[in-house]
Amino acid sequence: MIKDLSEIHKPVLVYEILDILHITPEDKIIDATLGAGGHTLEFLKKGAKTLSLETDPKMLKLARKRIGDSEAILEHANFIHIKEIAHKYGFSPVKGILFDLGISSFHLDEDERGFSFKNENAPLDMRLDPGNMEVKASTLLNVLREDQLKEMFMVSMPPASAKKLAQKICEKRKNKNFSKMGDLTALFAKRKPGKIHPATRAIMALRIAVNSELENLTVALDRSFDLLGPKGKIVVISFHSGEDRIVKNRFKSWEKLGWGLGQGPIKPSEDERVQNPRSRSAVMRVFEKNFS
Ligand SMILES: C[S@@+](CC[C@H](N)C(=O)[O-])C[C@H]1O[C@@H](n2cnc3c(N)ncnc32)[C@H](O)[C@@H]1O
Repeated sequence: MIKDLSEIHKPVLVYEILDILHITPEDKIIDATLGAGGHTLEFLKKGAKTLSLETDPKMLKLARKRIGDSEAILEHANFIHIKEIAHKYGFSPVKGILFDLGISSFHLDEDERGFSFKNENAPLDMRLDPGNMEVKASTLLNVLREDQLKEMFMVSMPPASAKKLAQKICEKRKNKNFSKMGDLTALFAKRKPGKIHPATRAIMALRIAVNSELENLTVALDRSFDLLGPKGKIVVISFHSGEDRIVKNRFKSWEKLGWGLGQGPIKPSEDERVQNPRSRSAVMRVFEKNFS
């Protein structure tokens, strides 16, 4: 039973984001990744008008409970639809748009959807929005060709390890299809004390593929830019190099077009890294638009 979402998912880089956005009452801010609502709540405290998107209906329900009856607009949507939803609610131009990518700690603690190695009996699903998505993680493991599997794992693993894993998967599925987390973790060595689970990177690559995370990010960044007012800012927090590369390259190309200035990488302070271990891999980049 979840008592307090703030205990489960601590928002990252809050002070840095508030410092960058300089929110004054009535400013319009879009939180493209509501999650447990941590950042949205901080924007509300500053008096902002907020529009927050969340693709996972279960997460949205929890955040709605936490945020309560405030005037925040919370919408079940994938952020690739950010433009039409922003127009629907009159959120253009806006002062800032935040993308805090990936999944929340709540997803990792959840038993039934296969986001974590912790529950070996969980089905290999990993869809953030099951009602609107067909392909589960198990399907990818059972149907992709070896070269496709290798390419998928290369998002978070070195090519040689990705190739080895792809071979093992093809070998194993000759006898039995993948259906549970344990079928995947069985392909890895046991976890050593104090080290990350050896399957962590493979699980992340699988989740990224199931939810088309890199493709969605690329599309959403471009659609977001058009919503910014003069001096408006897009703030993106990434948790692995594949995401960060997309953001860095996008911002560089906008700079070359003379659309504004990129800033970053900005990383959490030592204090935050100690207090919130999840923040350790966070990298933030900001783009400020220079025209109206
Ligand atoms: C890292 S969490 C955000 C945490 C949030 N900032 C907080 O402070 O609680 C990322 C959230 O974005 C959601 N998400 C991931 N991809 C999305 C997408 N394409 N569109 C909308 N939400 C998405 C996930 O379901 C997850 O709840």
